[in-house]
Amino acid sequence: MRDKILDGKGLAKDIREKIKAEVNNIKIAKGIVPGLAVVLVGQDPASVSYVSMKERACLEGGFYSEVHRLDEDTSQGEILSLIDELNNNDKIHGILVQLPLPGNIDEKIVNERIEPKKDVDGFNPINLGKLFLKTPGFIPCTPKGIIRLLKHYDISIEGKNAVVVGRSDIVGKPTATLLLHENATVTLCHSRTKNLSSYTKEADILVSAIGKPNFITSSMVKKGAIIIDAGTSKVGNKLVGDVDFQGVIEKVDKITPVPGGVGPMTIAMLLENTLEAVLIK
Ligand code: GUN
Repeated sequence: MRDKILDGKGLAKDIREKIKAEVNNIKIAKGIVPGLAVVLVGQDPASVSYVSMKERACLEGGFYSEVHRLDEDTSQGEILSLIDELNNNDKIHGILVQLPLPGNIDEKIVNERIEPKKDVDGFNPINLGKLFLKTPGFIPCTPKGIIRLLKHYDISIEGKNAVVVGRSDIVGKPTATLLLHENATVTLCHSRTKNLSSYTKEADILVSAIGKPNFITSSMVKKGAIIIDAGTSKVGNKLVGDVDFQGVIEKVDKITPVPGGVGPMTIAMLLENTLEAVLIK
């Protein structure tokens, strides 16, 4: 079974060690400490936990880290003012606003306000447009991490049937775009897709990013498929993915576990993007 696992945790650790060495080099050569500011609004438990992990990863990597924890009832104007300050703060090279934001805040307006050169999440429309056009810019961390993991394991993408389940702006849409840029034949499925399993069963590479535990079962996957489980849900206090791991493991060629697959890659890519933000400055 172990040879079927795409070990995101292990790869992320290696990437973070290399980034740490580069951060140290930049400190010595240029006197710059790469800085990331994270904005968290409210107390959504998953977001609180993700932000803590991002903060810890920054500190372990030698980055300067600022976390702005704001009340649930913070106004959109206050968030935009904070972003303006961070855009103009030379200590900060990357800015990330943890999503989802409370319902009264327009996420699109917030992401538009982040200076594109500091937009390490890649959610500003300038960077999303660049992604669409395949010109250099910041690439959203989870999709970037998924492609990096596939490449690390020499999994060929060109000409493969890649099926992405979930059309979020954060994961589904950018992942489908990146797979297309790698010359896969891409199908993007979503909650209104009819007869979903007729698509998933044809997938050489199946990416699921919907956040529904055990949604992808053995009868929905092709024998020998590569499965990327980008879903995260809490069942009790256990983190689980979208895929019935035990049910599909015999059938598939490779699979990312949850935890230990896509999640750690997201954090490694965030650090990589923040380092990139210093280099493009
Ligand atoms: N919420 C869930 N995933 C992400 C992410 O990658 N970035 C941000 N900003 N919020 C998220």
